Amino acid sequence: MRIISRGVPAIYRTPSLIIMAGLVVAARLTEGPTCVVGVLEAGQYHKDDPNVNVPGFLSRNMGNPERDWAFSVVPREITKNRKLVQNRGKGLGGSSSLNFMVSVRPTGKEIDALEGLGNPGWNWESVWKYMRKSEHLQPPDLTKEDAESRGVAPNAAFHGTEGPIAKSFATMMSHTHSVFMDALEKLGVPRNPDAGGGNTIGSLLVPVSIDKGTKTRSYAANAYYAPNAQRPNLLVFTGAHVTKIILEPSRQGLHRAIGAEFVENGQTHVVHSSKEVILSCGSIQSPQVLELSGIGNKDILERHGINCVIDLPGVGENLQDHAGVGASAEVDMSIETYDKLHDPAVANEHLELYKQKKGLFTSMPVNFTAFAPASAFASKEDIEKWKTLARLEASSPDVFAHTPESVKRGLRKQYDLLRQWVDDPTAAMAQFFGAAMLNLSPTGLTADFSPTKRHFSLRGLYTHPFSRGSVHINSSSPFEQPTIKQNYLTNPVDEEILIRLLQFCFKLYETSPVKEVVVERIIPPGEPTEDDLKEYVRETVETIWHPVGTCAMTPKDDGGVVDHKLLVYGTENLRVIDCSILPLEVSCNTQTLAYAIGEKGADILKGIV
Ligand SMILES: Cc1cc2nc3c(=O)[nH]c(=O)nc-3n(C[C@H](O)[C@H](O)[C@H](O)COP(=O)(O)OP(=O)(O)OC[C@H]3O[C@@H](n4cnc5c(N)ncnc54)[C@H](O)[C@@H]3O)c2cc1C
Ligand SMILES: *[C@@H]1O[C@H](CO)[C@@H](O)[C@H](O)[C@H]1NC(C)=O
Ligand SMILES: *[C@@H]1O[C@H](CO)[C@@H](O)[C@H](O)[C@H]1NC(C)=O
Repeated sequence: MRIISRGVPAIYRTPSLIIMAGLVVAARLTEGPTCVVGVLEAGQYHKDDPNVNVPGFLSRNMGNPERDWAFSVVPREITKNRKLVQNRGKGLGGSSSLNFMVSVRPTGKEIDALEGLGNPGWNWESVWKYMRKSEHLQPPDLTKEDAESRGVAPNAAFHGTEGPIAKSFATMMSHTHSVFMDALEKLGVPRNPDAGGGNTIGSLLVPVSIDKGTKTRSYAANAYYAPNAQRPNLLVFTGAHVTKIILEPSRQGLHRAIGAEFVENGQTHVVHSSKEVILSCGSIQSPQVLELSGIGNKDILERHGINCVIDLPGVGENLQDHAGVGASAEVDMSIETYDKLHDPAVANEHLELYKQKKGLFTSMPVNFTAFAPASAFASKEDIEKWKTLARLEASSPDVFAHTPESVKRGLRKQYDLLRQWVDDPTAAMAQFFGAAMLNLSPTGLTADFSPTKRHFSLRGLYTHPFSRGSVHINSSSPFEQPTIKQNYLTNPVDEEILIRLLQFCFKLYETSPVKEVVVERIIPPGEPTEDDLKEYVRETVETIWHPVGTCAMTPKDDGGVVDHKLLVYGTENLRVIDCSILPLEVSCNTQTLAYAIGEKGADILKGIV
């Protein structure tokens, strides 16, 4: 057993809290000396790995089994039976060690909707407060004029000043100032110089979790853990794969979590906790660990020979994710893009520059993003049609064939919200990313640079999916991955939105001043018909890695797994504190929510432990 924090060996003290992953909660709870926290993380601490730390190396760890769980997704015919992957960070900091560092926030009303779904205290004001608590803003060094043209003018009141995570702004810019923002404005999507205050509609220079001083990734391991590693009451175990939570019956039919079982180097260990057990294994593995521990849908557990301790049918249901498609163009050679890095001499030059905290590797290729309401890219007829498809029955028949009634009840409430948001000019139904490279996709980031040409790519994604998936164990072995059904495009609205987003991107490439820098749109090529685009969507749609919803915070009668105090139903001291508790997908990249949930969860616990 390797203890990477100095301090009292675990055998001398029984921690008050055992946390699976979850460094935000661990850091906050050990601020005072009394609470002893043990953290169990399956992966390692990739402290000095440049592929974690250097922003421009951002996708190099993808698929590396030491750093990425790289789960396979069950293929479906509609997505051409492709073998899609769900990447998830493995190691201290979890997916924050692997993510693309985009640091944006949702719209206020969708967070207020959490309260409406039965979660007192989960509203925008509260969640916003915790987002601010997690970060410190590093404003851009731009002249007023440059800042305006790039859509960045942070309002100090919207952002944190003292929190652990650094938030700066993408520095990938060139003399071609913000041509996409000008063109977007013409298409009805204005600049939004600070989308951090609850109103997100518009285009903006991307805020990123990159430390502006050191030009390195700022993430849970170096921001929440490293500065506190010397605390004697913070015990962090890496290489500790949790195999089950140990439960015992307590009062009034409830169960109490008394510790966890984990495997390290093939050996099984047990660690006890005196007060609470916290699960922060993310949207794929938190439901897996619950099911392995006997908490979940009785039928599923019994099928795998697991004794059902708490029959909780919502576990692993309600999987939601963002997915998107790309459209790329060849652009003017005068524009600086990441294509340059294809030339080894240029790449070496930028590696040298990085040592002086300069050059392309200090930032990342995605430099602008935009949030749009459905009315910006779809017709009134589309929107009316989509409202009628906001229901369970509109999905492929197999999707909800075995879904428990309580889960269906919760899903109907979600569709009521989607019906409103799709027709609301202030609700972001799509997000665009722009990157100075050929193809902004998981593989494209490393593979598709061109030596002789320059490219720009756009990616459009739906922010509020209408399709739903699930994640359930496929075996009683904790080392076999769960069955992940993403079910992309199984509700037709998601597919239709992506088609409209592609058409919108085409229009953008044809609008001045973007038009003047575009040589030719090359992906997808030519003048595709709507049917061609449908095929293209099915052939290329990919995750944007924001799975949520599988341990939903919502009433038990609505398929919930945890209550508003994040307590697992049927237990008195087992909580889930990660993105899996979001009952509904949010309209942005999810890391700001992951931190806010950790911060709010820590405050909930401070009232208890
Ligand atoms: C490739 C990629 C790009 C992304 N890009 C962005 C972006 O640009 N901006 C953004 O906002 N968000 C992005 N995200 C999403 C964001 O990183 C996640 O939403 C966030 O990290 C989720 O936090 P979490 O705590 O829920 O889960 P995770 O961060 O996934 O943490 C789960 C942790 O649990 C550990 N674990 C799992 N099972 C066990 C077990 N049995 N025993 C012990 N430990 C276990 C894992 O190793 C991991 O450390 C991206 C994600 C990925 C994968
Ligand atoms: C993003 O980078 C590209 C390429 O350098 C540049 O043309 C564009 O103006 C930049 N956009 C912003 C908003 O800075
Ligand atoms: C589930 O297990 C079966 C039997 O071992 C295996 O054939 C199948 O590939 C597994 N499915 C997934 C999604 O891992």
